[in-house]
Amino acid sequence: MGFSLKLCPLVFLLSFFLAFSFSLSFSSSSATQLCSHEHATVLLQFISAFSINKSASSECEYFSGVKSYSKTLSWKEGTDCCFWNGITCDNVTGNVIDLDLSCSNLYGSFPSNSSLFLTKSLQRLNLSFNDFKLSKIPREIGQFVSLKHLDLSYSEFSGQVPNEISHLSNMLEVLDIGNNNIKDTFPYWLESLPKLQVLILRSNKFQGFVRDTKANSSFSKLRVLDLSNNDFFGPLPVHFIENLKAMVNPLEDDNSAQYMGGSFSYEYSIVVILKGLSIELEKVLTVFTSFDLSKNKFAREIPKVIGKLSSLKGLNLSYNNFSGQIPHSLQNLTNLEWLDLSSNELVGEIPQELVSLTSLSVLNLSNNQLVGCIPQGNQFNTFGNSSYEGNLRLYGFPLTKSCDGNGLPQQPPSSFHGKDHELWEFGWRVVLLGYGCGFVFGLLIGYLTFHNGEPKWFVTLFNGQQNQRARNVRKARTRAQRRN
Ligand SMILES: *[C@@H]1O[C@H](CO)[C@@H](O)[C@H](O)[C@H]1NC(C)=O
Ligand SMILES: *[C@@H]1O[C@H](CO)[C@@H](O)[C@H](O)[C@H]1NC(C)=O
Ligand SMILES: *[C@@H]1O[C@H](CO)[C@@H](O)[C@H](O)[C@H]1NC(C)=O
Ligand SMILES: *[C@@H]1O[C@H](CO)[C@@H](O)[C@H](O)[C@H]1NC(C)=O
Ligand SMILES: *[C@@H]1O[C@H](CO)[C@@H](O)[C@H](O)[C@H]1NC(C)=O
Ligand SMILES: *[C@@H]1O[C@H](CO)[C@@H](O)[C@H](O)[C@H]1NC(C)=O
Ligand SMILES: *[C@@H]1O[C@H](CO)[C@@H](O)[C@H](O)[C@H]1NC(C)=O
Ligand SMILES: *[C@@H]1O[C@H](CO)[C@@H](O)[C@H](O)[C@H]1NC(C)=O
Ligand SMILES: *[C@@H]1O[C@H](CO)[C@@H](O)[C@H](O)[C@H]1NC(C)=O
Ligand SMILES: *[C@@H]1O[C@H](CO)[C@@H](O)[C@H](O)[C@H]1NC(C)=O
Repeated sequence: MGFSLKLCPLVFLLSFFLAFSFSLSFSSSSATQLCSHEHATVLLQFISAFSINKSASSECEYFSGVKSYSKTLSWKEGTDCCFWNGITCDNVTGNVIDLDLSCSNLYGSFPSNSSLFLTKSLQRLNLSFNDFKLSKIPREIGQFVSLKHLDLSYSEFSGQVPNEISHLSNMLEVLDIGNNNIKDTFPYWLESLPKLQVLILRSNKFQGFVRDTKANSSFSKLRVLDLSNNDFFGPLPVHFIENLKAMVNPLEDDNSAQYMGGSFSYEYSIVVILKGLSIELEKVLTVFTSFDLSKNKFAREIPKVIGKLSSLKGLNLSYNNFSGQIPHSLQNLTNLEWLDLSSNELVGEIPQELVSLTSLSVLNLSNNQLVGCIPQGNQFNTFGNSSYEGNLRLYGFPLTKSCDGNGLPQQPPSSFHGKDHELWEFGWRVVLLGYGCGFVFGLLIGYLTFHNGEPKWFVTLFNGQQNQRARNVRKARTRAQRRN
């Protein structure tokens, strides 16, 4: 008993020591609380400008495949902001480096005086799929000195692109301001951003010429250029295209090969309209290059120089006013997987050399004025007739009008001798038969109408089909509207 009593103070001391060191380690771990109070305050202030409105992110799921949810509901004062939804901190410094508020049901005018813009550590900002009620993109955005990725797509921004964006860090790699209401001319001043790899301006109201750039290094790292669905017009600038060095030869430059990802676990992806579908490309972008100028009013000839963009995987020039012939230089785009030149004013023959494009899996030359025989062999054996429709003087497989062995259109039969004669007779019999049937059917309807006022079964059948069709058209239309 005495022994244990003597030990007591020791045990007491020991347990005290343990408890103390425990609390010490505990307090030291809470001292490494990641998010700074300052950042938390700035973030809370920033989102106080918006209300939560489900319909503000209604396009999110359809176009990005992600379900929208109100990320900012987890943002509570007094908690570590590095654990808030949509926020990633640098795990050493505790600074906020990634703010992803895409698809967050944010609704309201975008504040231009927010101290968020002073967050020097921010590297990626994603505000896509919200509704900023036709706010202007604030000039203050140029103050993010470390920004690499800026995604403002599908968020109801209007006005012009503030050229303060060119003050952004020399780090900017990705700029997506697609699917807004921006009315501006081509933002040349972006040429000064030395690392810009992805530029997406699609589905806005950009207009005017895209003229040549002066500096030789303009847009030299660009891999994805999407200007589609705007009102750009005029000829394509030759020097501008020549300068797209990363598209000319991607292997020349090792730095650009570490595109996306890099040392971060962050998964970058963009939605590219690929082979007619919106497809999200993750990381694949290391080797991905595409050029989409579709749905504008670009005109004149497709410049030969486009054949220099040898790393291109996708080229879409559809729905423009390009005239002249398809340049033979396209044969040099050996990595091309899809080529869409449809709905232009192209004339002449399809260059035979295109047969050498063995990676090509989608080709669309429809709705032009192309003539002659479709080249045969390799990939050309795989394209269906919808690749060529709307060119009335094209011949050969897969079209029904055939070409002879010399690559010349077969002459339509000029006489009705022998077998032709029999065919002709047979043809006439069919026509007469059809005529006769129609006549009898007409008589029957006439008779029924005369007797009963109107043939009910016929009216029901016809109206039913009409209504169904109207419904389908309506559905398709609302979809198309949502997309544009
Ligand atoms: C929610 O947003 C939609 C448009 O995105 C708007 O029409 C509607 O008025 C908003 N509702 C509220 C309560 O603000
Ligand atoms: C911090 O982040 C880096 C890069 O993502 C990672 O390699 C490292 O393991 C992280 N450190 C800690 C302590 O989580
Ligand atoms: C920004 O301006 C609005 C009014 O225009 C004001 O209510 C708000 O406090 C300002 N915010 C900051 C951070 O200055
Ligand atoms: C641009 O490149 C061309 C040839 O590639 C050269 O002649 C010209 O001097 C260069 N201009 C500048 C400003 O570097
Ligand atoms: C932004 O968020 C959307 C939706 O979550 C996503 O599809 C897109 O890839 C993101 N953009 C960037 C640049 O990471
Ligand atoms: C080219 O662009 C048009 C219009 O933007 C689009 O409808 C078409 O699907 C695209 N073609 C390919 C092959 O992606
Ligand atoms: C298309 O180009 C032709 C000249 O090649 C021009 O006459 C015509 O006005 C242009 N059409 C449009 C819609 O720009
Ligand atoms: C294709 O590329 C080769 C080598 O770069 C070049 O010599 C040739 O002129 C190009 N062909 C066309 C039609 O531009
Ligand atoms: C080519 O484009 C037309 C519209 O211009 C479209 O109807 C057709 O389905 C497309 N064909 C292919 C193979 O993409
Ligand atoms: C296109 O091909 C389909 C079957 O693949 C055929 O039914 C159709 O008649 C063809 N159209 C033309 C214009 O050749």
